[in-house]
Amino acid sequence: MRILETRSLQWPDEAATQAFCAALARGLQAHPHLMNASIELHGSLGAGKTSWVRHLLRALGVEGRIKSPSYAVMESYELPLGVVSHFDFYRFDDPREWEDAGFRDIFAAPGLKLSEWPEKAEGMLPAPDLQIWIETQADESRSVKLVAGTALGQALIQTLEGVRS
Ligand SMILES: Nc1ncnc2c1ncn2[C@@H]1O[C@H](COP(=O)(O)OP(=O)(O)O)[C@@H](O)[C@H]1O
Ligand SMILES: [Mg+2]
Repeated sequence: MRILETRSLQWPDEAATQAFCAALARGLQAHPHLMNASIELHGSLGAGKTSWVRHLLRALGVEGRIKSPSYAVMESYELPLGVVSHFDFYRFDDPREWEDAGFRDIFAAPGLKLSEWPEKAEGMLPAPDLQIWIETQADESRSVKLVAGTALGQALIQTLEGVRS
């Protein structure tokens, strides 16, 4: 992936993660074309990838239980803003599933795509607009790097800065 822009952040606690997701949701609501982005979440087990997606889905208005897609690989949400598809490729090991389950079509269509363990679907996943790298520090805070690979990813980063204050 080519790198167009990066940002480094610190999330001292989960409330900071939640605040980031709330700001991102406001950015998506203000600029609906950003709802077509593909965002990859990188980080080891327990880094907070699923929590991050849950906070974002809540901020976008999802009520009720938010399942982790670890078994089904994908969970989809139809929201007023558009479709959100949450992937967890941890158990993804059959390339035929990429076609058969319709994942190729989903990545080609409008809608927000959020992918955990994208490295497990390498070679099939199209280049993401934004990567979020989450790393747990010794004090349980999270060091975070945002990496934009496309103009859409850059717009996401810039939107965040516009809505943070
Ligand atoms: N700053 C933080 N951001 C996100 N999660 C955090 C944070 N601090 C602690 N946590 C906790 O870390 C755990 C992350 O788990 P999870 O989201 O399932 O990780 P992953 O999907 O990366 O394996 C959750 O129990 C969450 O409450
Ligand atoms: Mg997870």
